Amino acid sequence: MDVRDAVASRYSCRAFLPTPVPEQTVRDIVAQAARAPSAGNMQPWIVYALAGEPLETLKALLAPRMTELPKGEGTDYTIYPHPLGEPYHTRRFVSGEMLYSAIGVPRADKAARYRQYARNWQFFGAPVGLFFAREKSHGPAQWADIGGYLQTVCLLARDYGLHTCPQQAWVSFHKTVRSFLNLPDHLMVYSGMAMGYADETAPINRWRAPREPVENFATFSGFTG
Ligand SMILES: Cc1cc2nc3c(=O)[nH]c(=O)nc-3n(C[C@H](O)[C@H](O)[C@H](O)COP(=O)(O)O)c2cc1C
Repeated sequence: MDVRDAVASRYSCRAFLPTPVPEQTVRDIVAQAARAPSAGNMQPWIVYALAGEPLETLKALLAPRMTELPKGEGTDYTIYPHPLGEPYHTRRFVSGEMLYSAIGVPRADKAARYRQYARNWQFFGAPVGLFFAREKSHGPAQWADIGGYLQTVCLLARDYGLHTCPQQAWVSFHKTVRSFLNLPDHLMVYSGMAMGYADETAPINRWRAPREPVENFATFSGFTG
């Protein structure tokens, strides 16, 4: 697949088919993604890949907790600045509205919104769940490097016909994930990710988050051609 097609066809997939993904495919993607650049070539990403029985066990641990803790256990790092400020608040709001209107959930129906959000903790039905961990001692440069690695995973997945959804929602269950993965003390989870074959017919997969025109976020100077 052409890299432009991979970029253009990637989206955050939130409904997957149960079709299993071979371990070798996931290994290839996780290994090849390590060609991502990192400051000082530190390669600060640490990956946990789950499928089959461990994945089902984790999902089963979370399922009964949704009514008790619809927002999770609290996060161990701040995902969104508060207040968010503009233009970021509006961008986030608009994509949230698009997501919930794609599945016919009105803003006022908080229970239905929580139910949809809780699908995160079932990996949206994906047969593969990934966790990206980081060293607690690392700083913003290494966080950014892991972001680049994560995006490289998303793009490589497209070449195998797979789709992905990065999931910081898992950080809201960081205690459960830490104990489930037996995460050493010096690490913390940066993000989860669902991976598998998209259910193309699912309404939640049939909308696309808008992007700003390039003039709104980039300046170009000095070009002659
Ligand atoms: C690090 C990271 C974490 C994310 N966490 C979640 C998540 O927990 N749940 C979710 O549904 N989407 C999550 N997303 C997906 C974003 O909402 C999505 O990338 C954004 O709205 C743009 O849409 P697109 O990926 O479909 O182009 C995450 C994306 C990133 C990069």
